[in-house]
Amino acid sequence: MVTVVSHPLVQHKLSIMRDERTGVKEFRELAGELSLLLAYEAMRDLETEPLRLRTPIQEGDFPVLSGRKLALVAILRAGLIMAESMVTLVPAAKVGHIGLYRDPQTLQPVAYYNKLPSDIAERRVFLTDPMLATGGSASVAIQSLKDAGATSIKLMSILAAPEGIAVIERDHPDVNIVVAAVDEQLNAHGYIVPGLGDAGDRIYGTK
Ligand code: PRP
Ligand code: URA
Repeated sequence: MVTVVSHPLVQHKLSIMRDERTGVKEFRELAGELSLLLAYEAMRDLETEPLRLRTPIQEGDFPVLSGRKLALVAILRAGLIMAESMVTLVPAAKVGHIGLYRDPQTLQPVAYYNKLPSDIAERRVFLTDPMLATGGSASVAIQSLKDAGATSIKLMSILAAPEGIAVIERDHPDVNIVVAAVDEQLNAHGYIVPGLGDAGDRIYGTK
C-alpha cells in the first residue's frame, strides 16, 4: 500500500526542496522537517495502552505507546537526515544503518555497510530513504532487514517514481510505503522527473 501525504505543509516544503535555487542549509532543514511530517503519518497506527495516572486535577487512564519497540533504519547517505530528524519524535528508538550507493552506469545498488540493532526482529522498522527511484536500493535494503529477522517494515521516502513503487510492490508486497509525492517517471539516467535532483548531493553539498 502506498500512502501519499498530501498535506499542504508537506507539499509546500517539498516544492521548495525541488527548487534548484534552494541551498544546502535550507534543503537540509526542509528534509528534516518533512521527515517529521511523514513520520506523523507513518506512525499513525502505533499501538497505545491506557496508563493510570493523576493529573493535578483528577486520576484517569491516558494512552501511552505500547506494543513493539521501534527501529529507524537509514539508507546511507541521504536517508540519514530523515532518521536523525525522526529520532527527536521517538527518542527510545534504536537506529540502524544500511550503506548503499547506486552505480551510476548500471543503476544497481552497491552495498558497503550494514549495522542493525541486534533485536531488529522484535521491532517495528521504519526504513528511510528520501528517493525511491528504480527501487533497487530500497528493495535490497528491505531484503537485508528481512534476512536479519524483521517482519514489520514501513518504507518512508520523500519522492517516489512509479517504477520504484512497482518494484517494491513486486519484491515486498508486505511493505507499506509512505511518500510526500509520486512523480511522473525516471529519466534515462535513473533520476526522478521532475524530482529534486540528487538528494545526497543536495543534503551534503557534494557534487
Ligand atoms: C540515492 C538515493 C537512494 C537511491 C535511490 O542514493 O538516496 O538511496 O539513490 O535510487 P534507486 O531507487 O534507483 O536505487 P545514492 O546512490 O545517490 O547514494 P547517496 O545517498 O550516498 O548519495
Ligand atoms: N537518487 C536521487 O538522489 N535522485 C533521484 O532522482 C534518483 C535517485
